[in-house]
Amino acid sequence: MRLTTGAVALALALTAAPACADAPWMNPALSPDARADALEAKLDEAQKISLLHGRFALAAYYGAFAGDAPPSIPGAIGSSGYVPGIPALGIPALQETDGGLGVSDAMDEAWNTGATPLPANLALAASFDPALARATGDVAGQEAWRRGFNVLLAGGVNLTRDPRGGRNFEYLGEDPYLAGTLDGQLIAGIQAQHVVATLKHFAFNDKESNRYADDALIDEASARESDLLAFELAIEGGAPASVMCAYNLVNSAYACGNDHLLNDVLKHDWRYPGWVMSDWGAVHSAKDALAGLDQESGEDYDAQVFFGTPLADAVKTGEIPQARIDDMVHRILRSMFATGLFDHPPVKTPIDYQADGLAAQHEEEEGLVLMKNDNILPLTKDTPRIAVIGGYANVGVLSGGGSSQVIPDVPAQLLPTVFMGEGLAGNHTRAVIDPDAPLAAMRDLAPNAQFRFDPGNYPSAAAQTAKWADVVVIFARKWQTESQDVPDLTLPDGQDAMIEAVAKANPHTIVVLETGNPVQMPWLNDVAGVMEAWYPGGNGGHAIANILFGVVDPSGHLPMTFPRDETQLPRPILSGQDAAGQVTSTDYNIEGADVGYRWFAARGLSPLFPFGFGLSYTSFGFSHLVLSDQHGLTASFDVANTGKLPGAAVPQLYLTARNGAHTLRLVGFSRIPLAPGETQHVTLTIDPRLLADFDAKADDWQVAAGSYSLSLASSAADIDETGSISLPAARIAP
Ligand code: GLC
Repeated sequence: MRLTTGAVALALALTAAPACADAPWMNPALSPDARADALEAKLDEAQKISLLHGRFALAAYYGAFAGDAPPSIPGAIGSSGYVPGIPALGIPALQETDGGLGVSDAMDEAWNTGATPLPANLALAASFDPALARATGDVAGQEAWRRGFNVLLAGGVNLTRDPRGGRNFEYLGEDPYLAGTLDGQLIAGIQAQHVVATLKHFAFNDKESNRYADDALIDEASARESDLLAFELAIEGGAPASVMCAYNLVNSAYACGNDHLLNDVLKHDWRYPGWVMSDWGAVHSAKDALAGLDQESGEDYDAQVFFGTPLADAVKTGEIPQARIDDMVHRILRSMFATGLFDHPPVKTPIDYQADGLAAQHEEEEGLVLMKNDNILPLTKDTPRIAVIGGYANVGVLSGGGSSQVIPDVPAQLLPTVFMGEGLAGNHTRAVIDPDAPLAAMRDLAPNAQFRFDPGNYPSAAAQTAKWADVVVIFARKWQTESQDVPDLTLPDGQDAMIEAVAKANPHTIVVLETGNPVQMPWLNDVAGVMEAWYPGGNGGHAIANILFGVVDPSGHLPMTFPRDETQLPRPILSGQDAAGQVTSTDYNIEGADVGYRWFAARGLSPLFPFGFGLSYTSFGFSHLVLSDQHGLTASFDVANTGKLPGAAVPQLYLTARNGAHTLRLVGFSRIPLAPGETQHVTLTIDPRLLADFDAKADDWQVAAGSYSLSLASSAADIDETGSISLPAARIAP
């Protein structure tokens, strides 16, 4: 926390909190639970109920004409959510902002004064770097705090069950161990800044089509071994103060009124002490409180303020016990104490855009994935003629849409898009180009080269420009957004034809993808290089240029499988489309826990690019794998940089067989920077739940006795060395 003592004094003075003497809950030496207990004793029923529901803080704005300044809801600083505090008791208001990629604009470009756009979380996932996730959380949490917010609605960890999902760019890929581990660190970083993070969207909100009324069907064991495992690991790693339940149904009960998910799994099995807030407009009854919901968010979007008078009335009639109300209040207050909202209230402080921009750049440099390199990369700085084509590369880099949309602190190009999605985020109809142009950054690194830019709108013109050049760099883009999935895996707007024409004109062509999901590449054999930059963030142009010219070694590895086409998917046709609000269903039992690479392995399918795949400008070797169960299950091995350039290896460890039966699960990974010729010895500890089956009847994890094969690999499809170990039977509580 970068705070001066003066700022702290100012903060404390501003909150005018009661002195400790007559407010024992202000004593930081007490535990969060003890402080909450002491405070609750002072609350009357109306005050308790007032803490259980909140508004979308730009609510009236969406009734007014777009572009108006947001109306002032007394006490709210604006943005996504506001729950009034109780100043006389020192309870701060909850000032809530989105989102998962930095301090977002609550879908309102006109209002936001700017923040640092972080790259898509797919870049963070591709880094396979928990320390980077923590650092990214620090940056996001710090900017939220400095803007006056004490809740950042970040921490999304829904798995990529469908590579057409509109919000996959906000999440961390298809594997529960990778996603849950990184999300936990992201949350820990945010909360270290005394800002509440919200693990979301609990659960199975894995696509956007008909998200308000799609019923996710999945058996218990599969659920626990996939999406729920990601949430469980994130809770263990990051202790999120809050969990946001999702819009959709799960096994025919709305997620925010789902007794099994919220009470049985989250609060009983996982002993979760924090509070469950709803998504905005996701509450259907006051009785959702009985199912485990603790707070109604964005009440403006519900049929009524269920957690206001209806909740109070239900207590009076005995339909909802007072004890439940007290528990709801306790969960909120103890989590506010635990995160420091009472002791370290936000102090409006200028944001260090330069430092945070460099942090975003570093994240993108670690998360960009080099997918093909036929001796064309890295570019040399004395390349005479370089053509740059498409992707608005002369202006900036693409970002994703919806509640996570961050508006940078410098003027950004807003592009009209051709879609209006459903509901809240449907109003967000413009794509934001983060203004760090790859073209300018490339010119900076190769000042003697001649550059020509072509927007890529006409294949013939683009081909003409390509003919002139020694090397061509095409930027291909695919905009994704909350509230809408994409119908297929193709690049839109004729980009495939343009790439084909350019590659035909000049085979020394590199394609840089700015996408929020996997895409098909019909031109793959005709180009010399491909890299996936995801949504590159506020310094994305510099990050991409640094990798193109070898200033930084590419070290990203795919956090999601790139299919050849939709026929390889569990649901070739996306479910829930054109449902017009009717309840539809998505049968996740088709793949069960075999999400992504596990589905491909179980069916012997060969994807375009496998999970975990990523090239470097150097090369690495893995050796000397040793498995041990002496002090918990560990895998030790050596990683060597066998090339001539510095780089970062990402060895992956997979469970590949159990008692001879083939399986495939990521059970360990590490990111190891290595100088040329350097070797490091690595030891990974393996969580036994990753080897286990969830026993729904016994409600625990079962590790069967027998032989386990664990393989070192550079991707889910590239196994290097396998070892095996015999393990005794074990049962592990959830
Ligand atoms: C949404 C999103 C959620 C966001 C909330 C507030 O519709 O699903 O992720 O935090 O509204 O904007």
